[in-house]
Amino acid sequence: MKGLKDESSNKKEVIERLKEIAEKDMDPLSMRMWGHIYYAGVEDVIELARTAYLLYMDKTMLDFTVYPSILKMENEVVAITADLLNGDESVVGNFTYGGTESIMLAVKSARDLFRKRSNSTPEIILPSTAHPAFYKSAEFLGVKTVTIRVDENYKADLEELKSAINNRTAMVVASAPNYPFGVVDDVEGIAEICIEKNLWLHVDACLGAFVLPFFKILGERVPKFDFSVEGVVSISADLHKYGYAPRGASVLLHRNADYRGNHIFVMARWPGYPIVNTAVLSTRSAGTLSASWAVLRYLGKEGYLRLAKMILRVKKVLLKELPEIGLEVIGNPEGSVIAFRSDVVNVFRVSSIMAERGWYVQSQPGSKHLNFPKSLHFSINPGHAHVVEEFIKDLKMAVESAKKHKEVDIEKIIQGDFLSSLGLREGELPENMELINELIHAMPPEIVEDIFKKIVNEVIFKPTKG
Ligand SMILES: Cc1ncc(COP(=O)(O)O)c(C=O)c1O
Repeated sequence: MKGLKDESSNKKEVIERLKEIAEKDMDPLSMRMWGHIYYAGVEDVIELARTAYLLYMDKTMLDFTVYPSILKMENEVVAITADLLNGDESVVGNFTYGGTESIMLAVKSARDLFRKRSNSTPEIILPSTAHPAFYKSAEFLGVKTVTIRVDENYKADLEELKSAINNRTAMVVASAPNYPFGVVDDVEGIAEICIEKNLWLHVDACLGAFVLPFFKILGERVPKFDFSVEGVVSISADLHKYGYAPRGASVLLHRNADYRGNHIFVMARWPGYPIVNTAVLSTRSAGTLSASWAVLRYLGKEGYLRLAKMILRVKKVLLKELPEIGLEVIGNPEGSVIAFRSDVVNVFRVSSIMAERGWYVQSQPGSKHLNFPKSLHFSINPGHAHVVEEFIKDLKMAVESAKKHKEVDIEKIIQGDFLSSLGLREGELPENMELINELIHAMPPEIVEDIFKKIVNEVIFKPTKG
């Protein structure tokens, strides 16, 4: 292990070194990634976001009394988001650094409200397709999670929901859409149940907030999911996904200020200045807020509609072409993310072959124990409209080639010393992702989680030489 270098370096050398260590990284703006990227595919949006970011990079959001423009921008960004999601003038909201932070704050608000009426451990009810950010929030906040099944259309099962509700229920969650399959839950049906039982309904529109309203205008089938549905109490909406803002940008909305009260933190019992936080994080750059503000203003409704149209074009091509080569779409996705499973080819192999061709296609391991299929996930970006034909050509070839591949005997690997088969090296990422995905699919999820924690703690996150 090495510490700081004794001498300073020159700027050029540092940047050269940065470029060198990034050599094996994919280019997030190359449009060859179908996951982990939300890129408008338009150079000027990125340029504008970078310029706006740099203008505010050095300003902190820690103390809202210091920079008046930051408060103004936050309120404007929240107003735009609330308007898009059919909020009326009583809706309030705050800027956060991401979906997980927005979700954690919503769970905290619901938990604290619950505590006013009960001493029991609060529970949140989640469809099995809800994002892990809810489980993480529950773990951090001492809340119990209750997972319910999804129906044959991959939407939260309403009968299961009814039977899961009890007097410890503090929150019910619906996704608009869920990440794995892009399916929007029946928010109206869930809201009816929540109104009857007087329960907090959070809609996770981290993925859908900035794209579903535009799909609807373009004539797509989009179920109601926002404040137009009576009973929806809070909504998470990520700017750093289909808002096309840089990472570290989300909004949490509450139907009115009474609900939000529980997530505002104030501390005036110390010798320093009063700390007032509306988010989990305290000191943070205002760069992602100013970039969000700039991109929203720049694109306007016209820009978001144009980009939504491009996404729809790609979605239609994938939905038409992929079934023809043996990939079957999962559910009836209303969103801009979709997933495919297959009975004729190992989808993890397809992903590996695509990687050799310079494409990133995300494998979703699912779980045979939970009856979740192995699948390939596509987060469609507007920029993909420029490359989709080339992509389909390569995908066809990858599927043909994968069909010829011999299946690995995963049970045999599990019985043996499978950790050594993974080719793990200290401080480095594992090489054989295909095998890892097979193992995740085949092993009980609790065991997978334990092994992951161990590997991440003891092997991957190890200091390496600078
Ligand atoms: C539906 C959904 N909710 C929540 C999150 C969590 O958001 P973040 O990764 O910004 O914390 C994601 C991320 O992909 C998501 O897709």
